[in-house]
Amino acid sequence: MSYFKGKKVLITAGPTYERIDDVRFIGNFSTGKMGFALAEKSLELGAEVILIAGPSSLTCNKKIKRIDVESAEDMYNEVFKYTGTQDIIIMSAAVADYTPKERHLGKIKKSEANLNIELIATKDILKKLGHTKKEEQIIVGFALESEDLLSYAKGKLESKKCNIIIANQANKPNSGFGGDMNTITIIDDRGSEVNFETASKAQLAGTILQYISEYALQH
Ligand code: CTP
Repeated sequence: MSYFKGKKVLITAGPTYERIDDVRFIGNFSTGKMGFALAEKSLELGAEVILIAGPSSLTCNKKIKRIDVESAEDMYNEVFKYTGTQDIIIMSAAVADYTPKERHLGKIKKSEANLNIELIATKDILKKLGHTKKEEQIIVGFALESEDLLSYAKGKLESKKCNIIIANQANKPNSGFGGDMNTITIIDDRGSEVNFETASKAQLAGTILQYISEYALQH
C-alpha cells in the first residue's frame, strides 16, 4: 500500500506578488509547475492534499483543496491555519523575500524624479515551520541557487531545520523556474545526498514523493 494513502499533505506552489500600488507588483518567474505536479502526484498516491498557490494560470484536480493567495504574507497566514494537522509540508513556492514597506492606494503617477521603493523582509515560512514542527511531521523545502548549489542548500537545511531540501540550479538549462524539466539533488538531515537525472517536473514529483516515503519509513 502507498505510504501516502490517507496522509495529509500541504504543498505551496508558484510565485508571490508583492503590491507596490494597485496596478504594479514585485514578483518572480516561478510558474508553479513543480508544486502543482507534487500536488497531483500526492493525490494520485492517496493523500489528502491542500495546495496553497500564489498567482498561477495552472489548474488542478478538483479533489485537491486549492487555496489561492497573492502575497508572502497571505501565504504565511494560510499555511499556518493548517500546519497543526498536516503529516507532510512541502514548500515549493518561490516566496518573495522582500515586500514594499508601504503600499500606495491607487496608481503612483510618473514624475521626472527617480522613484525609491523601500523594501522590508517578509517572514520566512519554511524557517518557522522547521523550528515549530511536531516530531513526526516531515518538512520539505526547496533551494534555488545560481551558484554554490549544495553548500547553500546545506546551509538552508540547517538554518531552517527542515528534514529534506530539494536543491535546484537557477541559471542552467532544464532546471529551475518555468520549463517543464528540472534537475535536482535531494539532501536530508540524516546526511544523505542524492543526485537525480534531468527529468520532467511530473516525473520528478514522483521521485521526490518516493524519497519522502523512504525517509519516513526509515524512522
Ligand atoms: N521560503 C519561505 N518563506 C520565505 C522565503 C522562502 O518559506 N519568505 C522557502 C521557499 O519556499 C523554499 C525555501 O524557503 O522552500 C528556500 O527558498 P530560497 O528562495 O531558495 O531561499 P531563501 O531562504 O529565500 O534565501 P536566498 O534567497 O538568500 O537564497
